[in-house]
Amino acid sequence: MAVPDDYDEVAETYAERLGDELAGKPLDRALLRAFAEQVAAGAPGVVVDVGCGPGHVTAFLAGCGLGVAGLDVSPRMVAVARRREPRLRFSVGSVLDVDAADASWAGAVAFYSLIHLDDTDMRRALAELCRLVRAGGLVLVAVHTEHLEHPGAAVTRVEDLWGHAVELDFRYIPAATLAATAEGAGFEVAAVLEREPHPAVEAPTRRAYVLLRRP
Ligand SMILES: C[S@@+](CC[C@H](N)C(=O)[O-])C[C@H]1O[C@@H](n2cnc3c(N)ncnc32)[C@H](O)[C@@H]1O
Repeated sequence: MAVPDDYDEVAETYAERLGDELAGKPLDRALLRAFAEQVAAGAPGVVVDVGCGPGHVTAFLAGCGLGVAGLDVSPRMVAVARRREPRLRFSVGSVLDVDAADASWAGAVAFYSLIHLDDTDMRRALAELCRLVRAGGLVLVAVHTEHLEHPGAAVTRVEDLWGHAVELDFRYIPAATLAATAEGAGFEVAAVLEREPHPAVEAPTRRAYVLLRRP
């Protein structure tokens, strides 16, 4: 199956399992608040949650006072997000080819949504985000950098996700690799943070958050 089909398959279960996960992730909440504060200090404009899934990060940013929209390649994820957050705007589309004008976004977040892309598509996605964000605009990207039970593995192929048959490759992306790729796509790197998983609520992967600024 392709990535959109796989996320269509798991959309409802994903929302049940992870739709309220920010409650158990204090550092994510703090980072999103800091991101929102910096974006709000600039000119008004939309902040897009790229690969929004069930829309919980979109909703959190809306709660921080930002004008937000969610974008996801999975139609069922978008349907779930619309049902959960009926006052917010969600649309179906891929980060690889977004139907929006250059510099039309105030900012973007991409939490664990670039993790299935190979190197070529990662470069393409970051170039697309750089095209879409206005000068000075920020993009906050979260990725898995390493599986703690399989250190050194570049990818995990998942064929069963919560009882759903899928064929998803979860790629581990070192923070330095992500930062260098983003610089190659035209961004400046504003911040890099790595953290261990919250054992009670997360898969055993180390994570990185990279804050990018379009010059
Ligand atoms: C692991 S989930 C993350 C969802 C949410 N951001 C979160 O933090 O829970 C990955 C999401 O990215 C979406 N996605 C994957 N590839 C994408 C692409 N090329 N463009 C837009 N969304 C994509 C999937 O459909 C899925 O909803």
